[in-house]
Amino acid sequence: MVNSLSNIRRNFTVSVESIGAQGDGVANGPEGRFYIPFGAPGDQLSITPGKRRGDGREAAISTVIATSPDRIIPACRHFETCGGCTLQHVAAARIAAEKKAMLIRSLARRGLNDIPVAETVTVAPETRRRVRFAAHNGQAPAFGFRRRNSRFVMDLTECPVTRPSILAFAPALRALIANLPALGVSAEISVTDSESGLDVLMAPSKQSEPSFAEREALADFATRYDLARLSWDDGHGPEPIAARREVTMQFGAATIALPPGAFLQPTAEGEAAIAGLVVSAIDDAARSRADLFSGCGALSFPLLAGGTVHAFEGDSGMVDAARRAIYPTAGRTVTADVRDLARDPLTATELNRFDAVVFDPPRAGAAPQTRELADSTVPTIVAVSCNPATLSRDLRILVDGGYRIESATPIDQFAWSPHIEVVVVLRRSFNRT
Ligand SMILES: C[S@@+](CC[C@H](N)C(=O)[O-])C[C@H]1O[C@@H](n2cnc3c(N)ncnc32)[C@H](O)[C@@H]1O
Repeated sequence: MVNSLSNIRRNFTVSVESIGAQGDGVANGPEGRFYIPFGAPGDQLSITPGKRRGDGREAAISTVIATSPDRIIPACRHFETCGGCTLQHVAAARIAAEKKAMLIRSLARRGLNDIPVAETVTVAPETRRRVRFAAHNGQAPAFGFRRRNSRFVMDLTECPVTRPSILAFAPALRALIANLPALGVSAEISVTDSESGLDVLMAPSKQSEPSFAEREALADFATRYDLARLSWDDGHGPEPIAARREVTMQFGAATIALPPGAFLQPTAEGEAAIAGLVVSAIDDAARSRADLFSGCGALSFPLLAGGTVHAFEGDSGMVDAARRAIYPTAGRTVTADVRDLARDPLTATELNRFDAVVFDPPRAGAAPQTRELADSTVPTIVAVSCNPATLSRDLRILVDGGYRIESATPIDQFAWSPHIEVVVVLRRSFNRT
């Protein structure tokens, strides 16, 4: 058994069966379950057991005895050092199958069996439109991503996940931040490739404002690289230092000006896949629609083509952005309210005026809101989630309340990571008494 392994240093021979939620190869044997970083399903490995993890143990590969047919050469020289990717050694078709299997296992843990789960929709690499770089400005400066299992920063020379437009800009940022003492020793710099140009947000790890000379240097930099905007956030909220033009995105037929730091789906392709599934789940008879956890309206505006849409979101800046959207059809727009849906979810009575409700919460899920939905009579619900564990918990609440899961579609918009986006369509099949 696994517990008896604690002081044993001997190796085991195992076959990797699947990929776990953290992106490791998973092997099950008489000695227990092992989570093996960089193990590919189909590999036969000699492994050295390490520390306990959950229902098993971590293990390191000591020898590859037989290589999986799904093992490939990683796309990036930083793979295994960089903390970003865990799956570059696995073929794309196998990753798609494993992500579908991860979702099925997660649903089954909540007793949700025999759910019609579609094939994974895969988004190509080089499409990530928002990237958070890490910078270390002390001795041995580095600019890139955090190393695997470490807070140290790895100097980046390539990244096949990111849009080339962001990657091409990285050397300029690296040179700039070396002369920005206000950033401190450690900082994070987010770059969003918007439809009106790059939007940069700098966040020092300590509260620190740029000096007058630094502000001038930042404004010059924004002009030289034709940035749409450059902002600074030392914990008091983002302050635009150079706002050269609105940072715009097209959601459906609407143009939105994004506030600094606003939520945005990581890829345009992923967002289009989510919006397409959401819109096609809601028929024209469902005229009155609600979008909960709506962000700036990436789903609200595509839904507007078929009815009225009321959006609810906790962040007032994003609600304002949705309200100020420019929309070509006179008199029709999304109505939007600021509301904390964890503390003050829409009640079943409030929900009952909608024909269809979409909810797309953060990773923690939406348990309080889902309990109200389960008590409602809303005919169609579409759940969107980037966390299969909390999604499955919330779906269980809805199924217990009388909803039937019609479909679940995994979308892989997080290339080579273990993350998945999921869209689930539910219809009310009976009312709870
Ligand atoms: C995954 S994003 C989805 C946004 C949008 N659907 C999109 O695709 O761009 C989740 C959103 O929930 C919002 N949020 C987080 N906690 C919330 C809460 N307690 N109440 C309301 N909104 C919340 C976040 O600000 C964020 O905009």
